Amino acid sequence: MDQIRKKVLVVFGTRPEAIKMCPVVRELKTSESLETVVCVTGQHREMLKQVLDIFHVVPDFDLDIMRAGQDLYDVTNAVLSGMRDILSRVKPDIVLVHGDTSTAYATAVAAFFQKIPVGHVEAGLRTGDLYSPFPEEFNRQSISIVAGYHFAPTETAKNNLIREGKDPSAIYITGNTGIDALFTTVRKDFTHPILDWAKGSRLLVITAHRRENLGDPMRSMFRGIRRILEEFDDVKAVYPIHLNPAVRAVADEEFRGCSRIRLIEPLPADEFHNFLAASTLILTDSGGIQEEAPSLGKPVLVMRDTTERPEGVEAGTLLLTGTGEEGIYSSCRALLTDPAFYQKMSQASNPYGDGKASQRIREILEKEL
Ligand code: UD1
Ligand code: UDP
Repeated sequence: MDQIRKKVLVVFGTRPEAIKMCPVVRELKTSESLETVVCVTGQHREMLKQVLDIFHVVPDFDLDIMRAGQDLYDVTNAVLSGMRDILSRVKPDIVLVHGDTSTAYATAVAAFFQKIPVGHVEAGLRTGDLYSPFPEEFNRQSISIVAGYHFAPTETAKNNLIREGKDPSAIYITGNTGIDALFTTVRKDFTHPILDWAKGSRLLVITAHRRENLGDPMRSMFRGIRRILEEFDDVKAVYPIHLNPAVRAVADEEFRGCSRIRLIEPLPADEFHNFLAASTLILTDSGGIQEEAPSLGKPVLVMRDTTERPEGVEAGTLLLTGTGEEGIYSSCRALLTDPAFYQKMSQASNPYGDGKASQRIREILEKEL
């Protein structure tokens, strides 16, 4: 039996990839016809471990590449050469990568060098601007060139791939595996000391980490938020800060002395999802949160100039504010003072999936490999 099992190597390295790939790993492990091997690159360390612990996924290989202050060359080099050896040892029938990180890009290239088929989970997202988000738009477009299986979360993503000339028979609409995770984490009875602190106030949940926003754009984002906190005495904010020291330095400086915001360590995903569910609104430059919030019916101010998630904008839950202080302040103010506007942005919808994306991916691989 073992000889005919096809070998799937699942590779990921950062927090968002882990949140969206652990449900896939768990689902693949239920298959009798597939053997699943997990390799983490360790592009993230603590933030990756948090997710592996929650989902009880134990990697077979860990490249452990993270270095403080790593740049794109460091990550790409380390993953590319690390994966050369892993691929030679494991000899998988297919390599699954996720999304648009440097881990995903370098792994796809490494697999291509050994002519191993690549399956791309969360394929087909596009802004069309190679510098926004940077370098993610380049990464995702490049992965689509080498991928033989495109697992697109939505019809829009599928159409993006078809427009680029990809073979329609290799594109599968699965939904987003991040929603699979979300369906397992949000609980009505969730409590947390920070939520107790915010009780009676309207709660803003904030995250920001994008490479292209480091420095001045981030500074102006935080100034816009600070103005809100100083103006509305019934509003509090919590910001679980990404472990990148370049983000922390600006946040510490811009929010110094502001008693209505709590800057905390990154939350485990299950806790973070419950924070989203308890919030009044969310301000973020994250990708994954733009998918989670519509399911929870929470308005999101997307502190970016572009988004690859137009479905959430169309559903009315996401609003692009740019990174400028004024745009963020005025959009946030409008949401806090105009109940009709708030109501319009709070309609729950599920443009990104029904929680069964991982199951579909398993079924497709069982059939096609
Ligand atoms: C990476 C991805 C980005 C994704 C983000 C999710 C690339 C190019 N970027 O960006 O697409 O949105 O992850 O969070 O792949 N750090 C720690 N511990 C951790 C994680 C990070 O200390 O667990 C610090 C390290 O100093 C590290 C720095 O954060 O050098 C930056 O990490 P890196 O993965 O290079 O970039 P991100 O901005 O996290
Ligand atoms: N997230 C988390 N803890 C936090 C903040 C975010 O678990 O303190 C989760 C969030 O729910 C989403 C994912 O991390 O699933 C988004 O990751 P991130 O913003 O780091 O990356 P992106 O999605 O922008 O690539």
